[in-house]
Amino acid sequence: GTTLRALARKAGIRVGTAVNSDALAGEAPYAQKVADEFSSVTPENVMKWDTVEPARGTYDFTQADQLVAFAKAHGQLVRGHNLLWHNQLPSWLTSGDFSAAELRDILHQHITAEVAHFKGEIWQWDVVNEAFNDDGTLRDDLWLDKLGPGYVADAFRWAHAADPKAVLFINDYNIEGVNAKSTALYDLVKGLRAEGVPVQGVGIQGHLDVKYPAPHDIADNMARFDALGVQTAITEADVRMTLPADATDVEAQDEAYQTLLQGCLLTRHCTDFTVWGFTDKYSWVPGVFTGEGQANIFDENYRPKSAYTALGQDLRLA
Ligand code: G3I
Repeated sequence: GTTLRALARKAGIRVGTAVNSDALAGEAPYAQKVADEFSSVTPENVMKWDTVEPARGTYDFTQADQLVAFAKAHGQLVRGHNLLWHNQLPSWLTSGDFSAAELRDILHQHITAEVAHFKGEIWQWDVVNEAFNDDGTLRDDLWLDKLGPGYVADAFRWAHAADPKAVLFINDYNIEGVNAKSTALYDLVKGLRAEGVPVQGVGIQGHLDVKYPAPHDIADNMARFDALGVQTAITEADVRMTLPADATDVEAQDEAYQTLLQGCLLTRHCTDFTVWGFTDKYSWVPGVFTGEGQANIFDENYRPKSAYTALGQDLRLA
């Protein structure tokens, strides 16, 4: 059959996957699927702060460089993930007792060094990741705590200065539909753009669970972002279920994947649909949601599941 990447090309979008660097390096069938099925890639972990700056001012881009080289060799674009988050921070940073001015400088240095290292190689950067709580308030993390809400604008300005051609995204979960969180994000993006802050994309992660209703208003939600003049993308799609799963769960999974993809296909400036890993063999889900899994579109033996077929059908019809 035809690959997802070929179908996506005809539909005018990229189809991506998060990539586990250990699997990419160590397992030929994994690498083969990444190459064959996807037209963009996102490093699952290796561009995060704890990996790239394990000691203050000391950078290690080895694994990230390997993924960038793989992508180049296979005609793929790279989504950079991510520059600023509350998670996967190095311990020198979380345990250091920095003044606001020092922390701001650390953030500036980090963003500048990482974006400059990859200048010209990154298609879209997730500059700010998961800045909101579900109620629409800003997350009370060290950034907000020490720097105040202005850290968001600073991060985008610094990233833009280091690579003016990369498309800069703000990325979050639970913002598929219209709700308090997506509305707060909408208001923030609108305000930042009015001030000339280079926020150029909104990433909708798309971590779903079949036990909750699928976000059927996703296209309406994405339309309002589209109207702000930003790109959009589904950046981390997966659909988990409680195990053992039955046929109803599997059907719900297929539909949830299709709902996410259709949101993108119906949105003019939605550029890509990325799954957060493609095989059930490597997934963050079982480690975080006890008793849940099978969230991906290939099974543990790299056989395509019905969700894979469902996505292909929607791409064909687009
Ligand atoms: O690298 C260490 C290794 O040295 C150590 O031996 C091992 C023991 O636990 O841990 C390894 O780190 C793990 C890391 O993944 C790399 O494998 C962490 O424990 C583990 O927590 C971490 O999980 C990642 C998670 O982000 C952290 O929050 C997942 O792989 C990754 O899929 C997940 O991705 C996030 C996105 O970045 C943002 N949106 C949500 C998404 C899912 O949580």
